Amino acid sequence: MRPYYTRVLGGVRVVVASKNRANRASESLQRGEQHLRGGRQLKIIVVGGTGTIGREVVKLLSSSHEIVTVGYDDGDLQVDIASKDAIKGLFREVGSFDAVISATGVAKFGSIEELSDEDYMFGLTNKLMGQVNLVRVGLNYINDNGSFTLTTGVSQKPRPGSSAVTMANAAVEGFVRAAALELPRSLRANAVSPGPVKETLEAKGKDSSHGIAAATLALSYKESVEGDRNGEVLDAR
Ligand SMILES: NC(=O)c1ccc[n+]([C@@H]2O[C@H](COP(=O)([O-])OP(=O)(O)OC[C@H]3O[C@@H](n4cnc5c(N)ncnc54)[C@H](OP(=O)(O)O)[C@@H]3O)[C@@H](O)[C@H]2O)c1
Repeated sequence: MRPYYTRVLGGVRVVVASKNRANRASESLQRGEQHLRGGRQLKIIVVGGTGTIGREVVKLLSSSHEIVTVGYDDGDLQVDIASKDAIKGLFREVGSFDAVISATGVAKFGSIEELSDEDYMFGLTNKLMGQVNLVRVGLNYINDNGSFTLTTGVSQKPRPGSSAVTMANAAVEGFVRAAALELPRSLRANAVSPGPVKETLEAKGKDSSHGIAAATLALSYKESVEGDRNGEVLDAR
Protein backbone atom coordinates (compact mmCIF):
# COMPACT_ATOMS: atom_id res chain seq x y z
CA MET A 1 0.00 0.00 0.00
CA ARG A 2 1.15 3.50 -0.78
CA PRO A 3 1.85 5.81 2.15
CA TYR A 4 -0.68 8.33 0.87
CA TYR A 5 -4.19 9.07 1.98
CA THR A 6 -7.33 10.41 0.42
CA ARG A 7 -10.44 12.15 1.65
CA VAL A 8 -13.88 11.95 0.23
CA LEU A 9 -14.01 15.18 -1.73
CA GLY A 10 -17.14 17.28 -1.45
CA GLY A 11 -17.87 19.80 -4.13
CA VAL A 12 -15.69 18.36 -6.86
CA ARG A 13 -17.28 16.63 -9.80
CA VAL A 14 -14.73 14.09 -10.96
CA VAL A 15 -15.83 12.70 -14.30
CA VAL A 16 -14.92 9.04 -14.59
CA ALA A 17 -14.79 7.23 -17.88
CA SER A 18 -16.46 3.96 -16.90
CA LYS A 19 -18.15 2.06 -14.11
CA ASN A 20 -14.93 0.18 -13.47
CA ARG A 21 -13.10 3.44 -13.05
CA ALA A 22 -15.85 4.73 -10.78
CA ASN A 23 -15.54 1.58 -8.67
CA ARG A 24 -11.78 1.90 -8.57
CA ALA A 25 -12.10 5.54 -7.53
CA SER A 26 -14.55 4.57 -4.80
CA GLU A 27 -12.30 1.75 -3.57
CA SER A 28 -9.41 4.16 -3.67
CA LEU A 29 -11.32 6.62 -1.49
CA GLN A 30 -12.19 3.86 0.98
CA ARG A 31 -8.58 2.73 1.15
CA GLY A 32 -7.65 6.38 1.47
CA GLU A 33 -9.66 6.69 4.67
CA GLN A 34 -7.36 4.05 6.13
CA HIS A 35 -4.30 5.86 4.81
CA LEU A 36 -5.59 9.04 6.43
CA ARG A 37 -4.82 7.58 9.82
CA GLY A 38 -1.26 6.79 8.84
CA GLY A 39 -0.89 9.83 6.56
CA ARG A 40 2.38 11.64 6.59
CA GLN A 41 3.47 15.12 5.73
CA LEU A 42 4.75 15.47 2.18
CA LYS A 43 7.07 18.03 0.70
CA ILE A 44 5.24 19.44 -2.32
CA ILE A 45 6.55 21.80 -4.99
CA VAL A 46 3.74 23.91 -6.45
CA VAL A 47 4.90 25.49 -9.71
CA GLY A 48 2.50 28.35 -10.46
CA GLY A 49 1.74 28.48 -6.74
CA THR A 50 1.44 32.27 -6.89
CA GLY A 51 -1.33 32.22 -9.52
CA THR A 52 -5.12 32.20 -9.30
CA ILE A 53 -5.41 28.41 -9.04
CA GLY A 54 -2.01 27.74 -7.46
CA ARG A 55 -2.62 30.12 -4.55
CA GLU A 56 -5.67 28.10 -3.48
CA VAL A 57 -3.80 24.81 -3.94
CA VAL A 58 -1.03 26.13 -1.67
CA LYS A 59 -3.57 27.36 0.88
CA LEU A 60 -5.37 24.00 0.96
CA LEU A 61 -2.31 21.77 1.14
CA SER A 62 -0.16 23.87 3.45
CA SER A 63 -2.25 22.88 6.49
CA SER A 64 -0.96 19.30 6.25
CA HIS A 65 2.16 19.46 4.07
CA GLU A 66 5.36 21.37 3.54
CA ILE A 67 4.96 23.52 0.42
CA VAL A 68 7.57 25.14 -1.82
CA THR A 69 5.77 27.84 -3.81
CA VAL A 70 7.31 28.49 -7.21
CA GLY A 71 6.44 31.31 -9.59
CA TYR A 72 7.93 32.99 -12.60
CA ASP A 73 8.62 36.28 -10.78
CA ASP A 74 7.19 35.61 -7.32
CA GLY A 75 7.16 32.74 -4.84
CA ASP A 76 9.81 31.09 -2.66
CA LEU A 77 11.67 30.11 -5.83
CA GLN A 78 11.37 31.05 -9.50
CA VAL A 79 11.48 29.00 -12.67
CA ASP A 80 10.70 29.35 -16.36
CA ILE A 81 9.16 26.02 -17.31
CA ALA A 82 10.04 26.69 -20.94
CA SER A 83 13.69 26.11 -19.96
CA LYS A 84 14.76 22.55 -19.14
CA ASP A 85 17.94 23.88 -17.51
CA ALA A 86 15.90 26.16 -15.26
CA ILE A 87 13.75 23.16 -14.24
CA LYS A 88 16.89 21.16 -13.39
CA GLY A 89 18.14 24.09 -11.32
CA LEU A 90 14.84 24.24 -9.44
CA PHE A 91 14.84 20.57 -8.47
CA ARG A 92 18.53 20.67 -7.48
CA GLU A 93 17.81 23.66 -5.26
CA VAL A 94 14.80 22.08 -3.54
CA GLY A 95 16.59 18.75 -2.92
CA SER A 96 14.34 16.01 -1.59
CA PHE A 97 10.58 16.24 -2.33
CA ASP A 98 7.50 14.00 -2.66
CA ALA A 99 5.24 15.72 -5.18
CA VAL A 100 5.21 18.29 -7.95
CA ILE A 101 2.07 20.19 -8.82
CA SER A 102 2.09 22.31 -11.94
CA ALA A 103 -0.59 25.01 -11.97
CA THR A 104 0.97 26.89 -14.82
CA GLY A 105 1.53 26.80 -18.55
CA VAL A 106 0.32 29.06 -21.33
CA ALA A 107 -0.67 28.70 -24.96
CA LYS A 108 -2.20 31.19 -27.36
CA PHE A 109 -5.86 31.62 -28.22
CA GLY A 110 -6.70 32.73 -31.77
CA SER A 111 -8.32 31.44 -34.93
CA ILE A 112 -6.49 28.87 -37.05
CA GLU A 113 -6.01 31.51 -39.72
CA GLU A 114 -4.60 34.06 -37.28
CA LEU A 115 -2.19 31.86 -35.38
CA SER A 116 1.36 31.74 -36.70
CA ASP A 117 3.85 28.86 -36.54
CA GLU A 118 5.45 30.71 -33.63
CA ASP A 119 2.11 30.97 -31.83
CA TYR A 120 1.59 27.20 -32.03
CA MET A 121 5.21 26.56 -30.99
CA PHE A 122 4.80 28.88 -28.02
CA GLY A 123 2.15 26.61 -26.50
CA LEU A 124 4.14 23.49 -27.31
CA THR A 125 7.25 24.89 -25.62
CA ASN A 126 5.47 26.28 -22.58
CA LYS A 127 2.21 24.52 -21.73
CA LEU A 128 3.17 21.14 -23.22
CA MET A 129 6.92 20.57 -22.97
CA GLY A 130 7.24 22.83 -19.92
CA GLN A 131 4.96 20.50 -17.98
CA VAL A 132 6.27 17.32 -19.61
CA ASN A 133 9.78 18.38 -18.60
CA LEU A 134 8.69 18.88 -14.99
CA VAL A 135 8.02 15.12 -15.05
CA ARG A 136 10.97 14.05 -17.25
CA VAL A 137 13.49 16.01 -15.19
CA GLY A 138 11.66 15.68 -11.89
CA LEU A 139 11.63 11.89 -11.88
CA ASN A 140 15.41 11.98 -11.40
CA TYR A 141 14.98 13.89 -8.15
CA ILE A 142 11.59 12.98 -6.65
CA ASN A 143 11.29 10.51 -3.74
CA ASP A 144 9.88 6.98 -4.19
CA ASN A 145 6.05 6.88 -4.33
CA GLY A 146 6.02 10.52 -5.41
CA SER A 147 3.52 12.14 -7.74
CA PHE A 148 3.25 14.68 -10.53
CA THR A 149 0.03 16.62 -11.13
CA LEU A 150 -0.15 18.73 -14.28
CA THR A 151 -2.81 21.19 -15.43
CA THR A 152 -4.69 21.20 -18.72
CA GLY A 153 -8.11 22.78 -19.50
CA VAL A 154 -10.12 23.38 -22.71
CA SER A 155 -9.08 19.85 -23.66
CA GLN A 156 -12.34 17.87 -23.80
CA LYS A 157 -14.56 20.83 -24.66
CA PRO A 158 -12.78 22.94 -27.27
CA ARG A 159 -14.22 26.20 -28.53
CA PRO A 160 -13.54 28.32 -31.59
CA GLY A 161 -10.14 29.94 -31.16
CA SER A 162 -8.76 27.25 -28.86
CA SER A 163 -6.96 25.06 -31.41
CA ALA A 164 -3.43 25.79 -30.12
CA VAL A 165 -4.53 25.64 -26.47
CA THR A 166 -6.61 22.47 -26.88
CA MET A 167 -3.82 20.81 -28.87
CA ALA A 168 -1.23 21.45 -26.15
CA ASN A 169 -3.58 20.43 -23.34
CA ALA A 170 -4.75 17.24 -25.05
CA ALA A 171 -1.10 16.33 -25.56
CA VAL A 172 -0.38 16.86 -21.85
CA GLU A 173 -3.26 14.51 -21.03
CA GLY A 174 -1.94 11.92 -23.50
CA PHE A 175 1.50 12.20 -21.94
CA VAL A 176 0.15 11.65 -18.44
CA ARG A 177 -1.84 8.56 -19.48
CA ALA A 178 1.16 7.01 -21.20
CA ALA A 179 3.83 8.08 -18.69
CA ALA A 180 1.83 6.48 -15.89
CA LEU A 181 2.39 3.10 -17.55
CA GLU A 182 6.14 3.30 -17.21
CA LEU A 183 7.04 5.58 -14.33
CA PRO A 184 9.51 3.83 -12.00
CA ARG A 185 9.59 3.54 -8.19
CA SER A 186 5.78 3.68 -7.77
CA LEU A 187 5.72 7.25 -9.04
CA ARG A 188 2.37 8.54 -10.32
CA ALA A 189 1.25 11.19 -12.82
CA ASN A 190 -2.17 12.79 -13.31
CA ALA A 191 -3.62 15.92 -14.84
CA VAL A 192 -6.33 18.23 -13.57
CA SER A 193 -8.48 19.70 -16.33
CA PRO A 194 -10.19 22.79 -14.91
CA GLY A 195 -13.27 24.38 -16.34
CA PRO A 196 -13.41 28.18 -16.41
CA VAL A 197 -12.36 29.52 -13.01
CA LYS A 198 -14.76 31.89 -11.26
CA GLU A 199 -12.08 34.36 -10.17
CA THR A 200 -10.60 34.51 -13.68
CA LEU A 201 -14.00 35.17 -15.25
CA GLU A 202 -14.67 37.88 -12.65
CA ALA A 203 -11.29 39.49 -13.30
CA LYS A 204 -12.18 39.63 -17.01
CA GLY A 205 -15.60 41.13 -16.23
CA LYS A 206 -17.39 38.05 -17.60
CA ASP A 207 -20.39 36.12 -16.25
CA SER A 208 -18.87 33.89 -13.56
CA SER A 209 -22.02 32.00 -12.57
CA HIS A 210 -20.86 28.82 -14.35
CA GLY A 211 -17.26 29.09 -13.12
CA ILE A 212 -15.62 26.83 -10.55
CA ALA A 213 -14.10 28.59 -7.53
CA ALA A 214 -10.34 28.11 -7.37
CA ALA A 215 -10.70 26.84 -3.78
CA THR A 216 -13.03 24.05 -5.00
CA LEU A 217 -10.74 23.23 -7.88
CA ALA A 218 -7.86 22.89 -5.42
CA LEU A 219 -9.54 19.76 -4.03
CA SER A 220 -8.79 17.92 -7.27
CA TYR A 221 -5.07 18.63 -6.88
CA LYS A 222 -5.27 17.39 -3.30
CA GLU A 223 -6.91 14.20 -4.47
CA SER A 224 -4.26 13.63 -7.10
CA VAL A 225 -1.43 14.10 -4.60
CA GLU A 226 -2.87 12.30 -1.59
CA GLY A 227 -4.82 9.53 -3.31
CA ASP A 228 -3.57 6.70 -5.49
CA ARG A 229 -4.88 7.80 -8.87
CA ASN A 230 -2.41 7.30 -11.68
CA GLY A 231 -2.60 8.20 -15.37
CA GLU A 232 -5.93 9.95 -14.89
CA VAL A 233 -7.38 13.26 -15.94
CA LEU A 234 -9.49 14.81 -13.19
CA ASP A 235 -12.09 16.93 -14.92
CA ALA A 236 -13.07 19.66 -12.46
CA ARG A 237 -15.73 22.16 -13.44
N1 LIG B 1 -7.95 30.33 -14.70
C1 LIG B 1 -8.72 29.62 -15.52
O1 LIG B 1 -9.90 29.95 -15.80
C2 LIG B 1 -8.19 28.35 -16.10
C3 LIG B 1 -9.07 27.43 -16.72
C4 LIG B 1 -8.56 26.25 -17.26
C5 LIG B 1 -7.19 26.01 -17.19
N2 LIG B 1 -6.37 26.91 -16.59
C6 LIG B 1 -4.95 26.61 -16.55
O2 LIG B 1 -4.51 26.57 -15.21
C7 LIG B 1 -3.16 27.01 -15.12
C8 LIG B 1 -3.06 28.12 -14.10
O3 LIG B 1 -3.96 29.13 -14.45
P1 LIG B 1 -4.14 30.44 -13.56
O4 LIG B 1 -5.37 31.11 -14.02
O5 LIG B 1 -3.97 30.12 -12.10
O6 LIG B 1 -2.88 31.30 -14.06
P2 LIG B 1 -2.31 32.66 -13.46
O7 LIG B 1 -3.18 33.25 -12.43
O8 LIG B 1 -1.95 33.50 -14.64
O9 LIG B 1 -0.96 32.18 -12.72
C9 LIG B 1 0.09 31.67 -13.46
C10 LIG B 1 1.13 31.11 -12.53
O10 LIG B 1 2.19 30.54 -13.31
C11 LIG B 1 3.42 31.22 -13.06
N3 LIG B 1 4.13 31.29 -14.35
C12 LIG B 1 3.86 32.08 -15.42
N4 LIG B 1 4.72 31.80 -16.43
C13 LIG B 1 5.54 30.82 -15.98
C14 LIG B 1 6.65 30.13 -16.54
N5 LIG B 1 7.08 30.36 -17.81
N6 LIG B 1 7.29 29.21 -15.78
C15 LIG B 1 6.86 28.95 -14.51
N7 LIG B 1 5.82 29.55 -13.93
C16 LIG B 1 5.17 30.50 -14.65
C17 LIG B 1 3.04 32.57 -12.47
O11 LIG B 1 4.10 33.06 -11.67
P3 LIG B 1 4.21 34.66 -11.27
O12 LIG B 1 3.06 34.91 -10.32
O13 LIG B 1 5.51 34.78 -10.59
O14 LIG B 1 4.09 35.41 -12.55
C18 LIG B 1 1.82 32.17 -11.65
O15 LIG B 1 2.22 31.53 -10.46
C19 LIG B 1 -2.77 27.45 -16.54
O16 LIG B 1 -2.14 26.35 -17.19
C20 LIG B 1 -4.11 27.69 -17.20
O17 LIG B 1 -4.07 27.48 -18.61
C21 LIG B 1 -6.82 28.06 -16.05
